[in-house]
This record gives sequence, structure tokens and C-alpha cells, in this order.
Amino acid sequence: MTNGSFEKKVAIVTGAGVGIGYAIAEQLALQGASVLLNDVDKAVAEEAAGQIRAAGRICQPFAGDVANVETVRGMVAEAVKLFGRLDIAVCNAGLTVWGDFFEYTQEMFDRVMSVNLRGSYFLAQAAARQMREQGQGGRILFMSSVTGHQALQYLSAYGMSKAALEMLARNLVVELSPYKITVNCLAPGATTTPRNLVDDPNYDTVWGKVIPVGKVGKPDDIAQAALFFLSDGASQVTGQTLIVDGGWSAISPSPSLDFVEKK
Ligand SMILES: NC(=O)c1ccc[n+]([C@@H]2O[C@H](COP(=O)([O-])OP(=O)(O)OC[C@H]3O[C@@H](n4cnc5c(N)ncnc54)[C@H](O)[C@@H]3O)[C@@H](O)[C@H]2O)c1
Repeated sequence: MTNGSFEKKVAIVTGAGVGIGYAIAEQLALQGASVLLNDVDKAVAEEAAGQIRAAGRICQPFAGDVANVETVRGMVAEAVKLFGRLDIAVCNAGLTVWGDFFEYTQEMFDRVMSVNLRGSYFLAQAAARQMREQGQGGRILFMSSVTGHQALQYLSAYGMSKAALEMLARNLVVELSPYKITVNCLAPGATTTPRNLVDDPNYDTVWGKVIPVGKVGKPDDIAQAALFFLSDGASQVTGQTLIVDGGWSAISPSPSLDFVEKK
């Protein structure tokens, strides 16, 4: 769908070569934004940006690891150099390192935190500095997860990092609201992306079974929710998290309920 709602806006989306980030970058571009599309994999970033440009939209690749603070600062500088300003920063890049708590290593822990937290924190900081200088507000969006709300085995570090991003969004309300910069979070549930299909080729069937709506999410489901937070119309919405999980976190696993059905 193209409707020009993001005409004249400049956006950065990290981890956007494939999956949820790509869907957000594509939707923003289709609706008129100029997008700087980041991915740690240069070839993937270039291919993704090329696909969006092939649709006649404005998108430039930016290769680099968000765990590197100089890289995220460079990303903001590049967006300003190319497009003259920055209105939207989507801190989407995130790393999942599954592992038993008893065996989890410092290396695994540090990698998760460096991408999920350091990358998001310092991109938000660099973006907010630029938006404050421009004096016209802005939008920052963090990518949390339903596992920042509900415990899932083998995701102790990942779940903790995602819960932390939601607190960061609430915290930044204090410092960024005076500049009309909103900061929110999306918390996707099970969503089909290339990574999940590598982890489990039967992902859609296996995970779809535990989701009340009977199916896993698609990247576009998350992108549609993102567009709301990023829109001009959402200026009164800040410090919030929207869970997009097909109702997964609304339920509790139940034992047999035969006794109710037999009544
Ligand atoms: N897919 C899901 O089911 C799901 C559920 C909840 C939350 N999330 C969150 O949504 C976000 C996107 O998830 P996804 O499954 O679409 O991602 P993904 O794992 O498919 O990765 C998307 C892209 O990010 C890039 N990337 C990885 N590390 C990077 C880094 N350090 N710097 C820059 N780019 C990097 C990868 O090269 C890849 O092309 C993540 O933060 C993830 O934690 C995903």
C-alpha cells in the first residue's frame, strides 16, 4: 500500500536486511520516507535496499554492526548527510542466543547485551541528539519481544534484554518528551522470519499451535503496528509497548479441563 503518509520523513531501520526490519523499512519507503537501511551483512543490506529502490522508492544501505557505538553514530551522520535530517529511528536489530542458564557463558551474555541493549541505547541517543538539534520532534521505536513479558526456557539473557528495552522507553519519556520525541516499543510474538525457519523448518506449524489465533505472525503484521507508532498521529503515545503476538501472552497453559466440559 502506498499513501505518502511518511513523505519528507527520514528514517533509519537497523537489522533490516530481512525479516521484521525489512518489512518496516519497506513500508516506510512505500509510504514516502527516505530510508537508511542497516544490516551487519553488507551484501544483504545492499540487496534489500536494491529491492526497495526497484519499487521506485528511496532507500540507501548502511552496513555495520549496531553493537559498535561509532557505527550507530556514523549511521545517523550518514542519514543526515544523504537526506538532510532524521525523523525516525527504529532500533530493530536484535540477537537471540538460546542456552541453558546453567551453561550460559559470559561471551554469549555479552553478545546479546551488546547488540540488543548497547546498539539500541546508543542509536536512540545519537538519533535523539539529532532530533533535538532539528527542533521538530521525532520517533524512536525499540524492538522488544513477548519474551520480555513471559518467561521462555533458554532465553534468560534475551528475555532480560527485551524487558530492559521497555524500561528504557519509559525512562526516556522524561528526557525526550520536552523535545516532542516519542519513544515506544513493539513486542512481537512468534513471527516467521528467515532466522526462525533456520532454527526450526517447521516453525510455522509448531509455534502456530500454541498461539490462540492459530498462526504465527508475519513481518508485515509487525510493520503495520510500527507504522502507527511512527506516524504523526501518534504524538500523544509515548513510553508504551504494544504486544503483537496473536494472543499468546494473554493465555496461561491449562491442564485438562474435562471437569468443566462434563458439567
Ligand atoms: N522473529 C521473531 O519471532 C521475533 C519475535 C520477537 C522479537 N523479535 C525481535 O525483532 C527484531 C527482528 O527480528 P527478526 O527475526 O526479523 O531478525 P533476524 O534475526 O531475521 O535478523 C534480521 C537482520 O538483522 C541483521 N543483524 C543481526 N545482528 C545485527 C547487528 N548486530 N547489527 C546490524 N544488523 C544485524 C541480520 O544480518 C539480519 O539480516 C529483533 O530485535 C528480534 O529480537 C523477533
